[in-house]
Amino acid sequence: MTEIKNPDVAQDVLIDKFGRRVDYIRLSVTDRCDFRCVYCMSEKMTFLPRERVLTLEEIYQLAQAFTSLGVKKIRLTGGEPLVRKGVTGLIRQLGQLDAELVITTNGSQLSTMASELRDAGVKRLNISLDSLRADRFKAMTRIGKLDQVLRGIDAAVAAGFERIKLNAVVMKGRNDDEVLDLVDYARDMGIDISFIEEMPLGNITSHDRAEAYCSSDEVRRLIEQRHPLVRTTEKTAGPSTYFRMNDSDSRVGFISPHSHNFCGDCNRVRVTVEGRLLLCLGNEHSVDLKAVLRAHPGDTERLRQALIDSMDLKPERHWFDLDDDEPQVVRFMNMTGG
Ligand code: 5AD
Ligand code: SF4
Repeated sequence: MTEIKNPDVAQDVLIDKFGRRVDYIRLSVTDRCDFRCVYCMSEKMTFLPRERVLTLEEIYQLAQAFTSLGVKKIRLTGGEPLVRKGVTGLIRQLGQLDAELVITTNGSQLSTMASELRDAGVKRLNISLDSLRADRFKAMTRIGKLDQVLRGIDAAVAAGFERIKLNAVVMKGRNDDEVLDLVDYARDMGIDISFIEEMPLGNITSHDRAEAYCSSDEVRRLIEQRHPLVRTTEKTAGPSTYFRMNDSDSRVGFISPHSHNFCGDCNRVRVTVEGRLLLCLGNEHSVDLKAVLRAHPGDTERLRQALIDSMDLKPERHWFDLDDDEPQVVRFMNMTGG
């Protein structure tokens, strides 16, 4: 019997012109943050006025449209997603969709919110942690309090998420001597940790990015002085390469936007809090979804079509060049959605 193909079904997924299937979205729910990390923001930031920011309802409509197009994983980002007023209501709604819901957070709100998030259906958390020394943590975040974040991590571990991963941006002269301590902390807590090379996003003036650059290979060598690392075969269709240690369940990951290009199997797009669909972290191509949402309220079909059409704009890869004086992408990370 010949199979009858429904043309609508064939269109019900997002595939770009390089054949990459997009099944993962990162939604920024706010550009605001209670920290000012030196690699992410400048000291004085102005944030968006309310009317330019998507409403929680609009964010939900977008998530629905994406999941109807086969998106299987939603990550909420910021700024700091947990400082947006009313975000737990949105999280509860998103938790009902047929997609894995995960959050990237700086941990500042977790001591009070962790168990509520777990109840709402959040499966996994990524928590930023660059230093275990209070004075340095303060210097890197400009505002953050280390003990508040450590209490947040304790609460998250107690709440029983499926996985928790720490993210540490490693910078020469700031925290590169803490790599081993961070790994040991992750091992003690029974959680994973990824080390990230700083990306040239936003025009920061606090440091020279070329000077602060610490490659993933260097970080890996530091760790191997104490813990031999075995590359895992797990493929996450993401930018991370993961390793295991033979005496711990914790995984050690490396996100290396400079030293290893990972664009070939990129499966993700981002939506900024202004409703700009970004097709690539390292490029400016974008589609104004807020315009679609506001010109045609409730028109799900039009929104879905806009998402399908946008796939043609996804660039093949990013180019980050540390020798270039200008940042390749002028957006700060809080506008991009971490
Ligand atoms: N380079 C690399 N990572 C960054 N982050 C923010 N800005 C940068 C940057 N310029 C990441 C940090 C933080 C997450 C929210 O975004 O890892 O944990
Ligand atoms: Fe805030 Fe995260 Fe940016 Fe730090 S990296 S300023 S915690 S959004």
